[in-house]
Amino acid sequence: PPAMKTKIRGCTSLRMKRVRISGWVHRLRRQKGPTFIVLRDGTGFLQCVLSDRLSQTYDALTLATEAAIQITGLVQEVPEGKSAPGGHELIADWWGVLGAAPSGDDAFSNRLNAESEGNVLADNRHLALRGEVAASVLHVRAGVLSAFRKVFEAHNLTEVTPPCMVQTQVEGGATLFKFDYYGQPAFLTQSSQLYLETCLPSLGDVYSIQESFRAENSHTRRHLSEYTHLEAELAFITFDELMTHIEEVICEAVSMVLAVPRLAAMLKQLHPEFQPPKRPFLRMSYKNAIKYLNEHGIQRKDDETGRFVDHTVGDDIAEAAERQMTDELGVPIFLYGFPKEIKAFYMKKIPGDEAFTESCDLLMPNVGEIVGGSMRIADMDELLAGYKREGIDPAPYYWFTDQRKYGTCEHGGYGLGVERFLAWLTNRYTVRECSLYPRWPGRATP
Ligand code: 4AD
Ligand code: MG
Repeated sequence: PPAMKTKIRGCTSLRMKRVRISGWVHRLRRQKGPTFIVLRDGTGFLQCVLSDRLSQTYDALTLATEAAIQITGLVQEVPEGKSAPGGHELIADWWGVLGAAPSGDDAFSNRLNAESEGNVLADNRHLALRGEVAASVLHVRAGVLSAFRKVFEAHNLTEVTPPCMVQTQVEGGATLFKFDYYGQPAFLTQSSQLYLETCLPSLGDVYSIQESFRAENSHTRRHLSEYTHLEAELAFITFDELMTHIEEVICEAVSMVLAVPRLAAMLKQLHPEFQPPKRPFLRMSYKNAIKYLNEHGIQRKDDETGRFVDHTVGDDIAEAAERQMTDELGVPIFLYGFPKEIKAFYMKKIPGDEAFTESCDLLMPNVGEIVGGSMRIADMDELLAGYKREGIDPAPYYWFTDQRKYGTCEHGGYGLGVERFLAWLTNRYTVRECSLYPRWPGRATP
């Protein structure tokens, strides 16, 4: 585990100084003589040694893991042959309990142990967060968000904060969370894309990092009801430039995370085999993907007959097939050029091949789709036809339509699911491990 950062009053170095330090008892080992405590303060860990005499105090009798304690003493390097986080330990000369923790039935280890699963872990997410793996994932998550912000800044994108309560859908009515808004129907946002598009003539290229909501009744490894959506929109670009931009942003963010030694060390523990992706990413057209699936015997289940059948052009590629293909190829894949029928109303058609769209999904091994993007319809009449095709009432979209009236331009953008990106980066089995308090159908607690 990583060493504690020196969050110690009046002291800039942990080495050979008398320090006062506060934290939580992560591990506790009582022996006949001294007591060994691995103290945790969120920044890392420090081994502390309480002498035989200090182990005899009243506080020591009730000391349990997860108690908050304060210790003063000298930090020294651990003797040869012994190991401790960061290679040093605190030899206590005073200590006291700040906030006790229960022992017995209610002890931390009884409420949550290595075998805990399913509901126990989910109900106790507030305690599970204290575990080393969960905390590392959250540290990496913070590093990832910070890296993306820096990368966007370097690419001259401006951050905006669009609303979460909206009256328009972006990705289809089936996954909208509806609620009563002062007597009017409103929804929780599925995507900030439409708002980002309106910012182009005002701010130029923009991005947002915002919660998105999907009322999908999907209990899969990669679906959440609420997730963190990183979205960007760029003006005056081509489809090819859009894919190149996505690739650059992802590779630059990954290198930036790896350049922080603490984060690199955590990633190494979470995902020992991780290799930064190589550019350029493989680009595969939707039509070639259908060919690939059929040539490799990856079939889809027919809704009506329940039988497994070959894919045909026009089919949506289901999660299982997509994952199998991505895992077989083992590299990031841009899948592009989806049929317009299976994509959203706002997507631009491929000039000369109008049944297909300038759309792309970025697929990563172990997860599948982590990014969905496209060029947008710039032409007013085409957009109106798009609403019609999807059965959308254009009235509430007047502000979005207006963009095509006042200085329309070629533009495109994308959304990246932060939890899916993290599941790929940190090799987690499910996106649920990559969210602070994950939400899925039936789960909104804690
Ligand atoms: O592919 P999606 O639905 O695309 C959009 O929302 C576009 N309007 C984005 C844009 O162009 N600005 O979602 C984008 C990404 C997906 O690739 C996936 O990573 C993530 O958002 N995502 C989810 N993540 C977790 N749980 C869910 N239910 C998700 N739905 C989408
Ligand atoms: Mg998508």
